[in-house]
Amino acid sequence: MFITFEGLDFCGKSTQVQLLEKNLKENNKEVILIREPGGTNISEKIRNILLDKKNKEMLIETELILFAASRAQLVGEVIIPALEKNQFVISDRFHDSSIAYQAFGRGINLNFVEELQKFVIGKAIPDLTFFIDTPIDEIIKRKASVKKIDLDRIERSAIDFYEKVREGYIYLSKKEKRFVVIDGLLSIDEINKIILSYIKLKD
Ligand code: TYD
Repeated sequence: MFITFEGLDFCGKSTQVQLLEKNLKENNKEVILIREPGGTNISEKIRNILLDKKNKEMLIETELILFAASRAQLVGEVIIPALEKNQFVISDRFHDSSIAYQAFGRGINLNFVEELQKFVIGKAIPDLTFFIDTPIDEIIKRKASVKKIDLDRIERSAIDFYEKVREGYIYLSKKEKRFVVIDGLLSIDEINKIILSYIKLKD
């Protein structure tokens, strides 16, 4: 089974990814955990280019294609072989992030971004995608406290960007049956219980 987690930065998905991994392992399941961008030697190198704050001149086209390149390598090297061995694969972000961030957030043509994702992921289509929908005010508060910056310094453009990315996830949740939308204001434990209700832990 292939499970992906999506949401805005600081929505709480990384905590849930780790909890689910623990739940599956406690039930003797073989689990492969991956994070995007990254997860193979080549993909981690691409991740460093993408997330390096010094690369301010990076064009949105370059960004889209680097995410896709990192993902293609991860699909071929890790995801497909693991699914063929009937392992659980859990990914912290996957192709839906490119649709939400690059198409809706950055404004690149949606149809093109979707076609590129189909090319890159091939048969590696997630069975379930949990979208942790945390309100933007809460995201901004968490970001300010983690990064120890004051709320006023998170400019309007950052808020507008998050709003567009969230619209992308709402679009996907209406279009894709595999999407499960979870209220990001619920407690860690409540969210974990909802996630587990979709997954068969026992054979
Ligand atoms: P990361 O530090 O892994 O953040 P998070 O813990 O929130 O996942 O950085 C990933 C950043 O890259 C995040 O801001 C989302 C963005 N991103 C895209 O814009 N497109 C993509 O296809 C992916 C996978 C991530």
